[in-house]
Formats: sequence, structure tokens, C-alpha cells
Amino acid sequence: MTDPQGFDRGLTNYGDRDFARFLRRSFARSMGISSNLLSKPVVGIAMTPSEFNNCHRHMGELVEAVSRGVLAAGALPRAFPTTSLGEVFLTPTSMMFRNLMAIDTEEMVRAQPMDAVVLIGGCDKTIPAQLMGAASANVPAIQLAVGPMMTGRHRGQRLGACTDCRSFWARFRGGGVGAEEIAVVEQRLAVTTGTCAVMGTASTMACIAETLGISLPGTAAIPAVHSARLLAAEESGRAAVALIGNKLRPDQIITLKSVENAFRVLMALGGSTNAIIHLTAIAGRVGVRIPMDRLNAISDETPVLVDLKPVGEGYMEDFFAAGGVGAVLRELRPLLHLDTIDVEGRTLAQRLDEPLEWVDRSVIRPFDDPVSTVGGLIALKGSLAPEGAIFKRAAATPALFESEGRAVVFEGLEDLSDRIDDPGLDVTPNDVLVLKNAGPHAAGMPEAGYLPIPKKLAQAGVKDMVRISDARMSGTAFGTIVLHITPEAAIGGPLAAVQNGDRIRLSVKNKSIDLLVPETEIRERLKNFASPPVPPRGYQALYRRSVLQASEGCDFDFLTAK
Ligand code: FES
Repeated sequence: MTDPQGFDRGLTNYGDRDFARFLRRSFARSMGISSNLLSKPVVGIAMTPSEFNNCHRHMGELVEAVSRGVLAAGALPRAFPTTSLGEVFLTPTSMMFRNLMAIDTEEMVRAQPMDAVVLIGGCDKTIPAQLMGAASANVPAIQLAVGPMMTGRHRGQRLGACTDCRSFWARFRGGGVGAEEIAVVEQRLAVTTGTCAVMGTASTMACIAETLGISLPGTAAIPAVHSARLLAAEESGRAAVALIGNKLRPDQIITLKSVENAFRVLMALGGSTNAIIHLTAIAGRVGVRIPMDRLNAISDETPVLVDLKPVGEGYMEDFFAAGGVGAVLRELRPLLHLDTIDVEGRTLAQRLDEPLEWVDRSVIRPFDDPVSTVGGLIALKGSLAPEGAIFKRAAATPALFESEGRAVVFEGLEDLSDRIDDPGLDVTPNDVLVLKNAGPHAAGMPEAGYLPIPKKLAQAGVKDMVRISDARMSGTAFGTIVLHITPEAAIGGPLAAVQNGDRIRLSVKNKSIDLLVPETEIRERLKNFASPPVPPRGYQALYRRSVLQASEGCDFDFLTAK
């Protein structure tokens, strides 16, 4: 007997299968679907429009284009909504809701009758959540990114969210930009639909999806407003129908080898630190784990090839015009696993055998003339982070790579905002700013790791300092910043023991971060440590009880593959 297809899949259980089928078809008729289409395979389209998500403003036309492709290939498209996460519209942080969206996506893909699914996402947490959900549902799936924004213009300068948001705000804090100008800049930073215009988390994750092989080749970097984005959507619809025939499932595409390729591309992009957490969580859904030593080996072997903000100069529209992910993959070819399979059933070797039309070498450098000879991100370990921390060396100040300083401690986010600009704050440019209690358990792990330079130092011209925390950092941010310290302070990690005046040593050469306090003293300070209470109800209670540390992707313990 062949497996049921389309609307005959997963019938509602009333104890009478024929009645369930009859009832479902009757209700499908109320949507005006013909008998002919009712007999076709079904492609679900997981759509994520929301008026709280500016990056997905053009979702409607993408859904329409995917539907066109599905119909043209002889199947029935069915769009359905899932949770949408607009990065800057969520409190305490969108990160807390990535797992909620992943559960929503997984369950709706599994529960509804579809033979394949096209997942449309883009804003920071949405592609990770969709890939986590798709990997667990393991229904044939294609990821379609909404695409990046175009840049705006301000007094002859190109502006792109959100690296330029940060640099202008830093200049405003330092007194170099006035209130009137910052109000004008506010209108010019995010001028079209689409995801942030630089190689932040959203674009990094779109490039990772293309590298994994779960998005169509050449699609990650197409600007949101470009007609090619609609063609990519139509083509994704067609490819989803072909996928039904191929029976290729996410766990055949997301494998140890494709995840290693994705980590390599992440390094070559100088991509977002957040991508490490998300890729770890996606891989965890299919039982793949990349140890920190392997991550560092990949980083040390892989040059940064892409000259884009926040690390370099260009914007995503330049990356698209320069050749996109395909050009990067071709440069990295000798380092990649070439036998991975993509959604079209081709090996990476077959994909890369196709010639590229042109590559702009000012944006995507050749392997032997890189932006930097080593990868953008490394993992650190040491007495302050026994289970690891992440450092974006590509976005840091090399003069601070080997440094030791006095800790200036903030106990949490409130304490940070209350005191960072206090003129009486005892701080010098050589100190280490320490933020505690911003990890997954304490606060949902917000992007608070980009601690502002204290106002009095910013006004004196200080541009960077060593800053450390158990928080994350926006993919669009930059600085000498140690993130994701694990275990976090709120579960009694050594970070909880740091006191003002302690010495902290960062060594990029040794990939270490150490609290220079005797171990016995650290233990003594933590003797009476107690974690904050679990919230009494709802999703926040589930989150606190189940969330794993950053080194495990911050997934829920009951969602990872056994
Ligand atoms: Fe959506 Fe940056 S706010 S990608």
C-alpha cells in the first residue's frame, strides 16, 4: 500500500477513517478547491507575516510566488501562519521565543496534511526556529529567506541597519552627533522591507541555510525588494514539489558534514556570534554536535573572505552583486565536504562545478588574498568559562587580544543601565567591564553583551574596551567582547563569583578567559549561591525549567535528538 498523500495524510481520528476523509474534503470544498486540485500532493507554506515584524513586510508577495511555483509543478499550495518574531519588538528578548516558534513550526508541519513544506523566514530568530522545527518534523522542507534590506543614504553616506545604528548612537553618546541629526538618521537606517542590511545574524543564518543545502543555491543574499527574490520564491515552490518525489528529508541534508561546512562558511563570512548558538541548536535536532576544539580548528584553517559590515566595509546588496554564497563556497572548495546533498538532490561538488558568471573581488576575496588569514569567531575556555565562551576576533581590536585588567562588575541589566553613565563610576580604559545575569536562565539571553563604553570614557575618545558577559551580542555589533560565558552566572558559574577589582585575563592566542582568583576563593564566594526562583506559570516557567546553556544551543532539553 502506498503512503497517503496530500489531504489524505494524517486524518483526524474519529474512529472512522472514511468519514474523516469525507469530512476533510467537505471542509476543503468550502475553500473553493476543485476535485482536481484536491487529489494533488500538498505543499505547505509556513508564512510569518506580522505587523510587529518589519523585516517580513513583503511576506504576502513571497507566499504568492511560492504558490505559483507549487501550482505550476502540479501540486496544491497551502499557506499557514506560525509565530513570527520581529527582533526589536519583543521583550525581554526575541531569543526567549525562538524555541516557542520552533515548537510551533514543528508541530504545525507535522500535524497538518502536507507532503513538503516551504518555510519563509528571515528576521534573526526565524530561520533558526524554522530549521529546528523542520529538522525535528523531518518532512521534506525548503527554507526561503525573505532577503536583506537595501541601504539608505545620509549626507552622502550609505546607511544600513544595524551596524550604522550602533555607530551613530555611539557618536551621539560621545557628543559627536547632535539630537537633531540623530532624529534624521533614525528615518534613514531601515528604508525597505527585508532583514538587516549587513552580515548580521539574519543574513548569516540565510547563508548557513544555503550552505547546509536546505535553501536553493544562490538565494541567500538576494535583496528583499529585488525581482530575483520573487523568482527564488517561485523556484522554491517548484523545488518543493520535486522534493516530494525525491523523498529527501531534512535529516539527509542536515548532517555532520553539512554542519561542518556551515561552520566553515560562518568563519569565512566573519558572521554573527549568534549563528554558533543557532547552528548548534539546529544540529542538535539531528543528533550532531561539533565540539569546541573542532570549532577552533575550523576557525584557524578558514580565512575571512567577505568584506562586509560589521567586520568590514560592504553591505548585503554588495555581497549579492559580488557573487554571494556561491562565490564563497567556490573559494573554500578544498576545505569543504563535497558529498553533502542539497534539496535538489545534488552533491555540493555538482553544485560547485557550475561556473559563476562573475565575482567582485573587492567584496569576496580569493582564498590566497583574504581579509584575514583566520576565521572570524573562536571559542574560549578558562577558569571564568569552564564550558566555553565565544569571541568574535574579526570584530575586535587586535591591541586588546592579549590583555589583563581590573573587573568593573555590573550585577545585571538594571544595574548596568543605572550605573554605566554615572560620572562617579570607578572605571579606566584598561578595565574589563563585566555583566552578570544576562544568560539564558537569568534573562533569556538578550543581546546585551555589547556593553556601552561608559559615557565619561566615550566622551574622552575611548572606542573599545574588553567587555565580558553571559549574554549574546547582535550580529551587527563589534568590539572586544567575550560572550556566552558558560555556565552562566544565574546557575552558579564562576562568573557569579567575580567582584569589583578582581583581575581578568583574556588571551586570544591561548583561546582563554581567566579569572585570576584562586579556585578555593571562587568556591568560597559561591558557597551560598542560590539561583533566582523559577517563574510560577506559563511559557516563562517552561523556558526556565528546560533551557540548555549556550554551549548546547539554548534549545530545550526535551527537544534535542536523543
Ligand atoms: Fe529583523 Fe535585524 S531586525 S533582521
